[in-house]
Amino acid sequence: MALIFFSKDDVDRFEPWKKALKEVLPDLDVRSWKQPGNIGEIEFALVWNPPPGMLGTFPNLRAVFSVGAGVDSLLNDPELPAGVPVCRMVDDSLTQGMVEYSILHVLRHHRNQPLLEKNQRAAKWSTFSSPLASERRVGIMGLGAIGGPTAKAISGLGFETIGWSRNPKEIVGVECMHGKKGMKDFLSGTEIVVCLLPLTPETEDILNKDLFAQLPMGATLINAGRGGQQVEEDILEALDSGQLSHVTLDVFRDEPLPPYHPFWKHSKVTVTPHNAAVTQPKTAAILLANNINRLNASQPLINIVDISVGY
Ligand code: GLV
Repeated sequence: MALIFFSKDDVDRFEPWKKALKEVLPDLDVRSWKQPGNIGEIEFALVWNPPPGMLGTFPNLRAVFSVGAGVDSLLNDPELPAGVPVCRMVDDSLTQGMVEYSILHVLRHHRNQPLLEKNQRAAKWSTFSSPLASERRVGIMGLGAIGGPTAKAISGLGFETIGWSRNPKEIVGVECMHGKKGMKDFLSGTEIVVCLLPLTPETEDILNKDLFAQLPMGATLINAGRGGQQVEEDILEALDSGQLSHVTLDVFRDEPLPPYHPFWKHSKVTVTPHNAAVTQPKTAAILLANNINRLNASQPLINIVDISVGY
C-alpha cells in the first residue's frame, strides 16, 4: 500500500507528512514524488497543486487527497484519472487558521489600523473613534467547512454578521442569504466582506466591479478564497475611486505574486503570501488514515468532492 506525496510550494513538507502518516498508518509506504519507485504500486496520492497530467501517470490510483481545502487545481487537470475519487481537506487546524486570519483582518479593517499605521509613519497624531462591532456589518462569502465557523466567530465578536452561500444555510447569530437572488441583500450595507468561497466556474471573477458597486462607499474586502475569484484591475479601480477603501488579499491570480505587480506597493492593499492557514500534518494524517481505512473496508469516503459543482 503506497502513497505518493507532492507539494508544489514546499518540497520540504514531505518529511513531516511522512512522519505523521507513519504514526497512524505504519504499513503505508509514503513516497516523495521525487522518488516514486514502482509507480504501479501507488494507490493513493496526497497532493498540493500537482502539475497537470501528473496524477494520470499512476495506473492503479484508488483515491486522491488534497493537502488543502481547495481542489480547483486538481479539477482543472484535464488528465485527472476518471472515476478516481478526490477528497478535499476538512481539518480543524486548517479551519482554525482561517478563522484566526479572518478575525485578525476584520478587526484590522474595523478599527482602521491601515490608517493608523500610515499616520505613524508620518509621525501624525490624529485620533478618531471607530463604531462598535455591533454597528458594523461584516459579510462572509462561503458558509461551508471554513466559512461557517468563521461567520460564527465573527458574530461572536459582536459584529452584525451576514453570510452568503450557494445553497441555503442556517447558522445561529448569522443572517444567511443564498444564490444569485440573495446577493443584493448580502452586499447592501456590508462594510467588510470576507471571501472564503471555493473556486468554481460559478465563483470565478465574482469579486468584480459590479459586486463592489453594490457595497457601501469605502467598504473593505478580505479575500482568502482563491485569486481566480478576483478581477484585479477592478480592485485597483475601486481603490482609486474610493468605492473600496482597503483590501487584504491572501490569494492572487498569479502566485507567487510577481514582483512588478501593483498590489505589492499599493498603500491601500495588504498582501499576505497565501498563508492564511496551512494544513497541519499531525491532525490531517488522522483524517487521511480514516479515509484510507474506509476505502480498504469498502466504506464511502468522507469529504469526497462533487466534481459537478467543483468542491
Ligand atoms: C489553501 O489555499 C487551501 O486550499 O487549503
